[in-house]
This record gives sequence, structure tokens and C-alpha cells, in this order.
Amino acid sequence: MPIPTSMIDPFGRSVSYLRVSVTDRCDFRCTYCMAEDMTFLPKKDLLSLEELDRLCTVFVEKGVRRLRLTGGEPLVRKNIMHLVRQLSRHLASGALEELTLTTNGSQLYRFADELADCGVRRINVSMDTLDPDKFRAITRWGDLSRVMESIEAAERAGLKIKINAVALKGFNDTEIPSMIEWAHGRGMDMTVIETMPMGEIDADRTDQYLPLSQLRAELERRYTLTDIPFKTGGPARYVEVAETGGRLGFITPMTHNFCESCNRVRLTCTGTLYMCLGQDDAADLRHSLRASEGNELLSNAIDEAIGRKPKGHDFVIDRRTKRPAVSRHMSVTGG
Ligand code: GTP
Ligand code: 5AD
Ligand code: SF4
Repeated sequence: MPIPTSMIDPFGRSVSYLRVSVTDRCDFRCTYCMAEDMTFLPKKDLLSLEELDRLCTVFVEKGVRRLRLTGGEPLVRKNIMHLVRQLSRHLASGALEELTLTTNGSQLYRFADELADCGVRRINVSMDTLDPDKFRAITRWGDLSRVMESIEAAERAGLKIKINAVALKGFNDTEIPSMIEWAHGRGMDMTVIETMPMGEIDADRTDQYLPLSQLRAELERRYTLTDIPFKTGGPARYVEVAETGGRLGFITPMTHNFCESCNRVRLTCTGTLYMCLGQDDAADLRHSLRASEGNELLSNAIDEAIGRKPKGHDFVIDRRTKRPAVSRHMSVTGG
């Protein structure tokens, strides 16, 4: 493999992290993420697993060191483990530092052992409540016991787990402390996330949005939180909770913008590259991928796209702003 050159954007940020949404489909319909009635991409528009592997490999050759598979739900993509197995060669060669995924946990129990065997060390499981009825309501039909089964399977497989919860006013705000205690009690990190205005949903985001500055103040009445320099390569800022001994991350796109240290770009299952989660500009890499057998065109198209990575997002959630900042749902890019 050629020696990696690094991809540097116009603001001097080095792009070393690629998030790949392998499918826009999901077996849940979380109310803050999707409308109940979603139109997904026609299967014919999807890149094949071989094409996804080729694209990821070009990114690795160009300096990507961390790769995260997302969705929709990545584990509902047919034959996904074939792609994971293929990509794991970059871990074995040392070109990639980390291969990981973000999952809703619905299918993870089936794949945990194989993921560990492929060199995956750490995974993020999205879970917004520990109450089975509330879980069914927020996901519109999800079964919490399946997710619990998955977490147990992942633990047995030796995978390190982080629980990601979107903080939602009137839904899980009062439950966050018990989730923290549950996660930390099992040796798992936990991260809370501010909801972002992406895609039309059936609910009003102003009703759901909970600024994490407010949540943190509430948590500080109960716990001793100490800022720590711990970093995973993602946007979370971590504290240690003295009472539990565990780590809690805050992802605050709305109240504290972290775009100045952004190190990532995101690829969709159709080969579209989004240089920012919160902007519409994108590059069509599928065209360059299919236009020639060699990777030069593709590599040039990637350089050109990185050359116009925007400074950051313009997310706003308030009563006056009726439309989401971007029309696509989170499930198109997986965060
Ligand atoms: P690690 O820190 O590596 O565990 O990953 P992460 O927390 O970045 O990844 P994860 O997939 O668990 O994402 C958690 C949440 O952070 C998701 O809701 C993402 O949408 C959000 N997120 C990740 N990257 C970005 C980003 O660049 N900008 C914004 N605004 N949100 C992001
Ligand atoms: N804002 C914030 N997080 C979201 N997620 C999905 N939609 C949104 C949104 N609008 C989260 C999921 C999962 C991750 C991939 O993104 O809960 O943790
Ligand atoms: Fe699916 Fe994740 Fe969106 Fe929920 S948040 S509908 S699990 S993609």
C-alpha cells in the first residue's frame, strides 16, 4: 500500500476519520430521527460491498486512520460481515487504527463474536431509555430485551461498549441518572447527545430539544463531575463521575460547537461524500468510482471534495425556525 498522505481541508484540519453509512434503512423508527413513513433508497442505487470496500480502501490509503460503519442500522445490510472482514485487513496491516460501528443493538447479538474476531474492539450502542415501554414508544416498535441480549453478547465477546443516548426533554431527562448508573455499573461508558435538526419528523423538535448545559447542571446537583482529557476521536467531551467511577461524554452540537476540531467526513451507501453533517454540499464519488478501474479519478475527486469542506454546521432549533437545517435524516449519513 502507498504511504498515506494526509488530507487537509481549507481550515487546516486533517481528515483522518471516515464514517460510512452502509445502508439508510433501519429496523427502528426513532421518533426524533425518522418519520414513521419513510422512503428509503431503491436497492439498485446502493454501492456493492466490493465497491464500498474499494472506496474505504482509497480513503485509508489517503490517510484515514479510523473507520466507523453506521446506517441507518449497519447490521441490517445483507452480508455486512463480509465487508467488515474485508476491511479488517487494514487493521492487520496497521494502516487503520480502529474499525468500529454504531448500532441500535437489534441484531448485534448475532454478530458480536464475529465482529470481535475481525478486530473490532469497541462499539457504540444507541439506546435512549431502559424502560421497555418507553423504548417501544421512542423506536416505534423496538424490543428492549433484544438490545439487552445484544449487550450481553457483546460483553461476552470482549467488545468494549459505549451507550449513546439522545437527551430528550420530557422523555428521558429524569432517567439519565439511572442510565448512567446502569452503564457505569457494567463498566460501559455513556454519552449523551443533543438532538439535531436533520430531516422532517412527525414531532416538533423544539418540544424535544434539551440543551446539555441544562442537563449537566442538573447532574451536578447529584454527582461530582470532573472534566477529563479522555478522547476517542469523536466529538464528545468527557467527565468522570466520582460516585460511579465511570466516564460520561457530552456531544453538544447545539450549545457548544466542536466544528473547529472536526476530523471527519461521511460516505453514504450510494457513494455520496458529505463533508459536513450539517450542510448539504456533497460529492458524488460513485461516478468517479465507476468511471475507471484505477483509483486516480477517485482520489482526485476526494481531494477536490476535502478542498471544499465547510467550516461547520448552522444548526438551529427554535420556535421561529420551522425547517430542519438539512433535509436529509441522520440515517442517511449515520452521524
Ligand atoms: P466515538 O467518540 O469514537 O465513540 O464516536 P462518536 O461518539 O463520534 O460516534 P457515534 O457514532 O457514537 O456518534 C454519536 C453522536 O455524535 C451521533 O448522534 C452523531 O451524529 C454525533 N456526531 C458524530 N460526529 C459528528 C459531527 O461531526 N458533527 C455533529 N454535529 N455530530 C456528530
Ligand atoms: N439528532 C441527534 N442524534 C440523532 N440520532 C439520530 N437522529 C438524531 C438527531 N436528529 C442519533 C441516534 C444514534 C446516532 C447514530 O445518531 O440516536 O445514536
Ligand atoms: Fe434507526 Fe438509529 Fe434512526 Fe433509531 S436513531 S431510527 S435506531 S437510525
